[in-house]
Amino acid sequence: MSTTTPTAITTSTAVTTAPVTTPSAATVHDDECGTYAVARDRSAVLDALIDEHAAEDPARFRMLTGDRPTGPLHIGHYLASLRNRVRLQDKGVETFVVIADFQVITDRDSVGEIGANVRGLVLDYLAAGLDPERTTIFTHSAVPALNQLMLPFLSLVTDAELRRNPTVKDELTLSDGRPLSGLLLTYPVHQAADILFCHSRIVPVGRDQLPHLELTRAVARRFNSRYAAGHSVFPEPEALLSEVPLLLGTDGTKMSKSKGNVINLRDTADETADRIRAARTDSERRITFDPNGRPAVANLLTIAGLLLEEAPESVAERIGDGGAQALKRVVTDAVNESLAGHRARRADLARDPAYVTSVLHEGNARANDVADRTLATVRAVMGMSY
Ligand code: TRP
Repeated sequence: MSTTTPTAITTSTAVTTAPVTTPSAATVHDDECGTYAVARDRSAVLDALIDEHAAEDPARFRMLTGDRPTGPLHIGHYLASLRNRVRLQDKGVETFVVIADFQVITDRDSVGEIGANVRGLVLDYLAAGLDPERTTIFTHSAVPALNQLMLPFLSLVTDAELRRNPTVKDELTLSDGRPLSGLLLTYPVHQAADILFCHSRIVPVGRDQLPHLELTRAVARRFNSRYAAGHSVFPEPEALLSEVPLLLGTDGTKMSKSKGNVINLRDTADETADRIRAARTDSERRITFDPNGRPAVANLLTIAGLLLEEAPESVAERIGDGGAQALKRVVTDAVNESLAGHRARRADLARDPAYVTSVLHEGNARANDVADRTLATVRAVMGMSY
């Protein structure tokens, strides 16, 4: 894998030739829809460029993404992000995946079953096809130099900017009246360190993470101008938006472990069938794809469509007058058949805990190598090499 040398101050510019026109973080909340439309257009351009150039120039599209190890991954994660990571890796994109263990305590009082959750994520990554030879899988807590980048980065943002971050605000609202902790307020800066420590150019994200990416771009820009005399120490990364629509749980509301409405990747075929049998539908016999009028039915059709690579309207057409029962059978078969390979590989890998440990050790070692070099560059440009 190619990495950045300690003193390299890269001046190569962004991934594309077109100037980036996304607005600054300060305007994200007021203009969320405009920002989203721009980000979606940019993503389409990026996707095409990756197809064209990733194989010959993998570092140009270095990608970082990650998950909080708060519990098992579900089919929403699989369809919206995991499949896409594997697809990009297989196109030759240099891939980093952070298991964001320090991010777990942004909105809760304890880390929970952190060890088991971290290992569970690794199992799903490997079963889905992430290849630890090509993809660096690591945890925050094992990479000290990454965390240290947060100090200079914090100096580049204001508290007002952090307080108006719409994602932080939403997370605060959802955390049951907890007071705003210093970590919840500043975790977008920590996330900027995740993204910038390896000079990643591409960050596949869902819509809710766009404000964090804007902040990351601001941190990179400000670092370069304030501490590096305008040299491009940190390139400004770009969002690669998921094309997958927001998926709901089996009761037609937001997926949430505590509501018991999710289908986990690791669930058995029987557990999946039970969960889908209990799914909310309606009593209309004719199955139609109507996201506004029949959101729960539309959600099941969307899941089946994504797995079968078929438009949800056409899945509905096939079911016709079969009613909820036929719909549930189609969805259950789609989930169980398309996840059968994943689940079998996951079960095999789970029998070899030493292998999972070695994947983490190897990934952490590589991430440390990269982070140490980046921190050395930062100290050098800031005049802190003594
Ligand atoms: N915040 C992301 C989530 O909750 C996880 C994450 C941590 C991440 N660091 C990241 C995502 C860096 C993209 C880039 O899903």
